[in-house]
Amino acid sequence: MNPRGIAWYILKQVFNEHKLITENYPFIFENIEDERDRRLVVEIVYGVCRFRGRLDYVLSKFANQKRTEPDIWLLLVSAAYQILFLTRTPDYAIINDTVSLVKQASYGNKKKSGFVNAVLKRLAAGKDALTFPTPENLRDFIESNLSFPYWLGMKWVSDYGKDRAVQIMKSLNFRKPVVFRCFHGLDSFGPESRFHPTPYIDNSFEANVPIYLMRAGSCYVMNESSQLVAELLRTFSGKWVLDAASSPGGKGFILRTFTGIENVIFNDVSEKRILRILENSHELAIPISAPVQSDFLRPVFRPSSLDAILLDAPCTGTGTISGHPELKWLRQPGEIRGRAKLQNRMIRNAFSLLKPGGILVYSTCSLEKEEGEDVVLNFVSEEEKAQLVYPFTFSSERIESRFKRFMSSGNFLRISPDKYLDGFFAALIQKKS
Ligand SMILES: C[S@@+](CC[C@H](N)C(=O)[O-])C[C@H]1O[C@@H](n2cnc3c(N)ncnc32)[C@H](O)[C@@H]1O
Repeated sequence: MNPRGIAWYILKQVFNEHKLITENYPFIFENIEDERDRRLVVEIVYGVCRFRGRLDYVLSKFANQKRTEPDIWLLLVSAAYQILFLTRTPDYAIINDTVSLVKQASYGNKKKSGFVNAVLKRLAAGKDALTFPTPENLRDFIESNLSFPYWLGMKWVSDYGKDRAVQIMKSLNFRKPVVFRCFHGLDSFGPESRFHPTPYIDNSFEANVPIYLMRAGSCYVMNESSQLVAELLRTFSGKWVLDAASSPGGKGFILRTFTGIENVIFNDVSEKRILRILENSHELAIPISAPVQSDFLRPVFRPSSLDAILLDAPCTGTGTISGHPELKWLRQPGEIRGRAKLQNRMIRNAFSLLKPGGILVYSTCSLEKEEGEDVVLNFVSEEEKAQLVYPFTFSSERIESRFKRFMSSGNFLRISPDKYLDGFFAALIQKKS
């Protein structure tokens, strides 16, 4: 199958059916065998999601979006991405291929293919003269230059101030390197692979592999911010540690390697996702005890029975937009409040399961304070036995020295996305004895 046609199909799945890109990986593998073609599909799909606002803006100089069928517009957007960003493919090849796709999809409708041909030719001829909105006009700058929905960009301006919000959006548009946590050395990478250690976490390596590779032998794709959350318990000693929302298992696998922790219990609500934990544990050769499938809104564990709990709560994931650029278009403002409600219940449940003196690590991969600082502050202000503690109390000194600069007032870790790191939030809460 033609890679550009497959990219168009997946973009329709994302923008019309609100599916995640990763949900479409099986479709790519089943329909494309050639590795270069797979990489092209991935390049187009991720690129369009990353720069959709900018591409709409550019195209609107050459065609009227309101008068164009939405699926044809999406195909134009996809071709515009290739013309503007893929320097190694000649424009005429992109245009010919795109026009053939319209012909096939419209049973040879000459009006449609002629329209697409004309728009793309004008874009290719005019691409060097394009200009984009500047920060003086904030709305256009956010939407048509930084390529973010206005509501989300303005929320960050209000939460973090204009300069930091712009920095966050720029960082989230940056394509981060694929980072692996290696559990048993580096032998899993083939001889031609190039990899080198990453700046923040030991046993982590950046490798020149496609983004859809989730594992390579005993190495597992995991951003360093995400690894940090588990690293906060590196020197902790205890018999029972619960990973309350654990699938696909990354943080729990790291906890399994810590010598002071005797047992890690993996829990998740979803059966399908429990199977992913098992598959990952098998592939990574990290033995685990049978995971528990239960809804943490109605916990099945005995109260006051656990030494520590990691609650890596389900969230809007806005800190991970760099690796999941479709999230910025799929998320809606009301979802933040919805997730926060869930998180408020989960944090209470987690605390009730802790032994006196026990430790709760609460984290999210969201940039939203409603899902991070607010959840923790609400809880701690109502629960007199809950005490926020220094987040590096149980980490190694190396982790403390590398991440200390991300501490914000109130003992919180608020990681801003950068060239390497996803946005994350973490806090440590102790149950007073
Ligand atoms: C952010 S992910 C966890 C990632 C995981 N900690 C890791 O490092 O691989 C959140 C998880 O919470 C699970 N989840 C959502 N609602 C839940 C609930 N009510 N009870 C338990 N788990 C839940 C989801 O299925 C998802 O796997």
